[in-house]
Amino acid sequence: MLMPFDFYFQQFCQNSFFHVKMLNFARGRSQQRSTRSMPFAGVEHHDPKRKGSFVGKILMVATLAALCIIMLKQSPTFRTPSQFSKHEEGVTHVLVTGGAGYIGSHAALRLLRESYRVTIVDNLSRGNMGAVKVLRDLFPEPGRLQFIYADLGDAKVVNEIFSENAFDAVMHFAAVAYVGESTMDPLKYYHNITSNTLVVLEAMAAHGVKTLIYSSTCATYGEPEKMPITEETPQVPINPYGKAKKMAEDIILDFSKNSDMAVMILRYFNVIGSDPEGRLGEAPRPELREHGRISGACFDAARGIIPGLKVKGTDYNTHDGTCIRDYIDVTDLVDAHVKALQKAKPRKVGIYNVGTGRGRSVKEFVEACKKATGVEIKVDYLPRRPGDYAEVFSNPTKIYRELNWTAQHTDLEESLKTAWRWQKAHRDGYGAS
Ligand SMILES: NC(=O)c1ccc[n+]([C@@H]2O[C@H](COP(=O)([O-])OP(=O)(O)OC[C@H]3O[C@@H](n4cnc5c(N)ncnc54)[C@H](O)[C@@H]3O)[C@@H](O)[C@H]2O)c1
Repeated sequence: MLMPFDFYFQQFCQNSFFHVKMLNFARGRSQQRSTRSMPFAGVEHHDPKRKGSFVGKILMVATLAALCIIMLKQSPTFRTPSQFSKHEEGVTHVLVTGGAGYIGSHAALRLLRESYRVTIVDNLSRGNMGAVKVLRDLFPEPGRLQFIYADLGDAKVVNEIFSENAFDAVMHFAAVAYVGESTMDPLKYYHNITSNTLVVLEAMAAHGVKTLIYSSTCATYGEPEKMPITEETPQVPINPYGKAKKMAEDIILDFSKNSDMAVMILRYFNVIGSDPEGRLGEAPRPELREHGRISGACFDAARGIIPGLKVKGTDYNTHDGTCIRDYIDVTDLVDAHVKALQKAKPRKVGIYNVGTGRGRSVKEFVEACKKATGVEIKVDYLPRRPGDYAEVFSNPTKIYRELNWTAQHTDLEESLKTAWRWQKAHRDGYGAS
């Protein structure tokens, strides 16, 4: 549950105490037995050598205990119970699931900057410990940031985390999140997205955590006939990723009908960009490259890691035949989360599209990418990819009206430039940073 180092070290300490206790217990009984079997009843047999070894053992136990306590306290993620396990007036403690990932780490940074207390839970299946280290170095003070290595599929562990921590709100980012992969391995998606959201929700209900900000996606809408997409557009997802997210939304909405939970569901469009100050970036697992998002592929091509870009589908019913998407900068996206958190109200559900309201074609994206990186990227045009849809862009009116949120970073080239700076400085992702 804790970081591996802490976990093993705590186990060592616990085992040492246990072991020592067992030894003493055994000795205690044998001493009693030998006292009882003394041939001269009523006469105290005093053995000075035994007394000396007993005192020695007491001293050894005390030294070991002191050593364990000192080392545990020095360990980087040692959790002082008073800070993470107790509610504190004026401090909002947010559980950020998937906080080692791309969007989750940016959200954690913003929350920490705004004085929230943050606990990240991540199984590092797709995230990066390097991102957590960046956050920890920026906010080393006790009680600010805690990292818990755990899998949200393990309900028992999740329950333990909720009983040991006093969360005020949950931002549930953790998920597998590739449309292409979801068509090849749908069960993984239903398990990781739908089933794990149920686990998180059950833990929240059981432990009285009353605010949920849920990461959903425009993929829940499928391929609507009418653009732009509003929150009332019927949700007819056409791939397992979108379906799994829609199911998770349904579970949350059904639960919220008879609960006083404050729920905000944010349906993101396509997320790009990175921290303008260059502290965090997007570093997906290399093995996910083939499913990867267009920005990752664009940077990989610019760096020569892949020979060029593969644009899948040129015969869509759009102005240049390539797919149209609404690209939202991650800085804007986390801003929407903070606003959602601040405006969340008990017994209220808010569902919001988070996009710019402007669609850009893949061809336009590639041109912006070439300009941002300064590299003449080679482009191959291929047949369509299963599960993709022609045109998707948002109507962000509702989120502007109700949360006073609007995208500030709507310049595709600028967002890509920022992300490219991080990519250039981190050629091996977080590995070399
Ligand atoms: N990136 C986008 O364009 C986009 C668009 C719409 C919605 N979203 C949603 O935003 C959220 C974050 O996406 P991202 O792009 O940051 O992805 P990411 O892969 O970078 O981050 C996801 C994080 O969740 C963690 N995780 C996955 N399964 C876990 C589990 N069972 N237990 C614990 N941790 C687990 C991963 O290790 C990773 O750190 C997801 O819910 C995704 O569906 C993303």
